[in-house]
Amino acid sequence: MKVIAVCGSARKNGNTEALLGAALDGARKAGAKTELITLCDKSIKMCDGCCYCDTAKKCHIKDDMAKVFAKLLSTDAIIFGTPCYWDNMSGLLKNFFDRMNAFCIDRPLNGKKAGIVAVSGGGKEHADHAIGAVRRFTEAQKMHFAASMGAKAYKPGEIKNDAKKMADARALGEAVARMR
Ligand SMILES: Cc1cc2nc3c(=O)[nH]c(=O)nc-3n(C[C@H](O)[C@H](O)[C@H](O)COP(=O)(O)O)c2cc1C
Repeated sequence: MKVIAVCGSARKNGNTEALLGAALDGARKAGAKTELITLCDKSIKMCDGCCYCDTAKKCHIKDDMAKVFAKLLSTDAIIFGTPCYWDNMSGLLKNFFDRMNAFCIDRPLNGKKAGIVAVSGGGKEHADHAIGAVRRFTEAQKMHFAASMGAKAYKPGEIKNDAKKMADARALGEAVARMR
């Protein structure tokens, strides 16, 4: 069992990354191998909408995308994490999903387990919008939804002071790893 967390925050060491770190702690407790991928330190250019991928099933843009996607192919479960930006997922994660079009024509993530973590400054209602948007992507990919959670935090790293949410994130990671 391998669990990969993909962090869509623009911040290094932000709230989303902290929750994903806790989720991966939980997954390791359940015996999984884990890896955290932070999109903010990768070179993943914007999808230019050329639709070359519709027929070629690959992308003409040369950057870190193919390498990151190859890791997703090798895992059993993916936990997507995003800050809530304008009641949606972050642009970083959305562009990552847009770029996945080239790799997902044949739905290769079909059957992999999906967890979702979202952090918002405003609270649950805002985080829920982001979770819903990410969930629609996982459904389109025919992934198996395992669990999601939202949390409220604004300043970088503030979520680490919320013991309940950090514990919830560990439980989410454990549940994702244990799901059969
Ligand atoms: C561009 C931008 C847009 C945001 N939009 C919202 C929003 O619509 N609703 C909300 O509750 N918080 C919003 N926030 C606050 C972030 O969700 C919050 O700061 C969160 O903790 C960031 O997570 P991170 O540390 O993982 O990046 C926004 C923050 C930024 C930078």
